[in-house]
Amino acid sequence: MRSVLVRVLQAPGMLVLGGAHRWVAGHCRRVHSCSALVYRRHGPDLEQLRMEQWDLPAVGKHSVRLRMLAAPVNPADINMMQGTYPILPEFPAVGGNEGVGEVMEVGCEVGSLRVGDWVVPVDAGFGTWRTEAVCDATDLLSVPSDVSLLGAATVSVNPCTAYRMLHDFQHLEPGHTVIQNGANSAVGQAVIQIAAALGLRTINIVRDRPNYEALAAELKAMGADYVITEEQLHSTGLGNILQEAPKPRLGLNCVGGLSGGLVLSSLDSGGTLVTYGGMAKKPLQIPAKSLIFKNISLKGFWMTQWKRNHRTDAHLLQSMVDALCSMLRAGQLSPPALVPVPFQHYRQAIQATVQARQRKRVLLMQ
Ligand SMILES: NC(=O)c1ccc[n+]([C@@H]2O[C@H](COP(=O)([O-])OP(=O)(O)OC[C@H]3O[C@@H](n4cnc5c(N)ncnc54)[C@H](OP(=O)(O)O)[C@@H]3O)[C@@H](O)[C@H]2O)c1
Repeated sequence: MRSVLVRVLQAPGMLVLGGAHRWVAGHCRRVHSCSALVYRRHGPDLEQLRMEQWDLPAVGKHSVRLRMLAAPVNPADINMMQGTYPILPEFPAVGGNEGVGEVMEVGCEVGSLRVGDWVVPVDAGFGTWRTEAVCDATDLLSVPSDVSLLGAATVSVNPCTAYRMLHDFQHLEPGHTVIQNGANSAVGQAVIQIAAALGLRTINIVRDRPNYEALAAELKAMGADYVITEEQLHSTGLGNILQEAPKPRLGLNCVGGLSGGLVLSSLDSGGTLVTYGGMAKKPLQIPAKSLIFKNISLKGFWMTQWKRNHRTDAHLLQSMVDALCSMLRAGQLSPPALVPVPFQHYRQAIQATVQARQRKRVLLMQ
């Protein structure tokens, strides 16, 4: 986002707000403007987010102008605004890390994108909660426009995270088992669906809730083999499940605390626990016997770092996104059940995201 913001804010000679023909640096040109959700300080209350009108710089030789179509509100967006995320933007900052846009204008030396293409940001920190942006063409990846809008808007963070964790930590073959907590999260739902497409079985842990049966049915309809609550796992262990399925080799930890410890204790000898979230905000409970007698490996995964490590390999990143879009198109992967929120009602979306047991919100800009 830094590069986008710097260009937006430092565009020389901006005169007045609003999109129109204006005198800029001695020339009359059309100046495009956008609405953006901007914050200028970190804080726990999230009241600092405001909708502002910003002028956009002219499209340069290597840049493009896009109009944002839809962008979700993810936990990491909230952490960024609160100032607790490992990468923080410079102020003024535009919120939002994920989303899909449509290319409206292309610089004369851009060969990779065309007007009308759908695009997603390559890196975290883009500032997707805005109606338009001008950025370098290399800051974007194209996604096919024949996948659903909400699928495209939510493909570049959570499904990519699920995809990498299922491919990069344990050698898994059809019939092998993966166990995860936070199974109803967007990442968890992507894990269920990608694992099912790979022929893997999944054991899915969720927090207890009044509508547990309905949630379990929903996750099973996506391909989950088993759904249990943290409380059931704590009191009875994997019990009957292990009579049907092999012990899990891979555990995915979205939550931490006791829940993460339960996933760890359920793993087979030589298994791997990958921690990618800390939703409970409690330290992971690690039973010594899992390390001593089962030689479990503890790993962490951060999609942002993975993308930065592979930034020069555009093909690798594009091929992962293409594979996930193919799954979206084939109906093997669906976005989580999202609640669409008109862009101007963004406060509702932010408030819902910090409450428990809520569906993910997605801002619709168009
Ligand atoms: N490392 C990475 O690269 C990476 C990438 C993507 C996401 N993440 C992280 O993964 C996590 C999930 O993200 P998401 O977008 O998939 O989330 P999401 O769809 O918004 O779902 C949030 C999940 O967290 C659970 N949860 C919320 N508060 C909790 C608490 N106090 N204790 C236990 N569980 C709680 C929710 O369960 P209920 O329904 O029971 O409330 C739900 O399962 C976040 O921590 C996010 O930052 C990490």
